Amino acid sequence: MGKALKILRIDSSGRQHGSSSRALTDELVAALADRYGQVQLVKRDLAESIPHVDQAWIEANFTPEENRSDSQSKVLSFSDLLVAELKEAEVLVIGVPIYNFGVPAALKAWVDMIARARLTFAYTENGPVGLLREKKAFIVVASGGVGVDSPVDFATPYMRQALKFVGITDIEVIVADQQNIRGEESVSAARAQIANSVYTSQPVRSSHLAA
Ligand SMILES: Cc1cc2nc3c(=O)[nH]c(=O)nc-3n(C[C@H](O)[C@H](O)[C@H](O)COP(=O)(O)O)c2cc1C
Repeated sequence: MGKALKILRIDSSGRQHGSSSRALTDELVAALADRYGQVQLVKRDLAESIPHVDQAWIEANFTPEENRSDSQSKVLSFSDLLVAELKEAEVLVIGVPIYNFGVPAALKAWVDMIARARLTFAYTENGPVGLLREKKAFIVVASGGVGVDSPVDFATPYMRQALKFVGITDIEVIVADQQNIRGEESVSAARAQIANSVYTSQPVRSSHLAA
């Protein structure tokens, strides 16, 4: 038996019931658990609550850690927790419904909370570099009418860029788009994509494969 695969599952659909992206992130986690045998799962449901950056947060973040007051450290504590969850994960499973051509505001707020200079990216002579390493991200994109990677899809390219910015370059997009046009076929194609990816593609961590 290998080591447990550490998964961070992030959902951002405002719907708790009838959400296709949640059904698919569920399915992806179940498939990973089936293939890898043992998983350590952390769930982050952004529909529950996520703060936005504000004056106090920005000032605290711009203050070097050793100079921060207790209250400044406290202001950053939730962001620190989200960064810790992200650093710990080997695989990310992120549900991304397209809302008004972009990601749900809650998911944008999550990106704002985890893009932290010195923690997840660093400024260098050659510009910013991502500090996270060796993670695989699955992003499950659901939409009503917008095609994934069409000129009006600002969600998928945004998520690719945001993840790359912090060093996550192995990104696979699971497509459940145009559900109002494609109907059931959209989600069933995404299910097939998940099965294909989890069972027949390169393993995310060969050392973790179930015997
Ligand atoms: C507030 C809101 C805005 C939406 N905006 C778009 C949009 O701009 N383009 C689109 O194709 N679908 C849009 N949709 C449809 C959703 O992307 C689609 O219903 C998707 O399945 C939602 O994910 P879920 O099933 O996980 O809830 C929107 C839905 C909501 C609730």
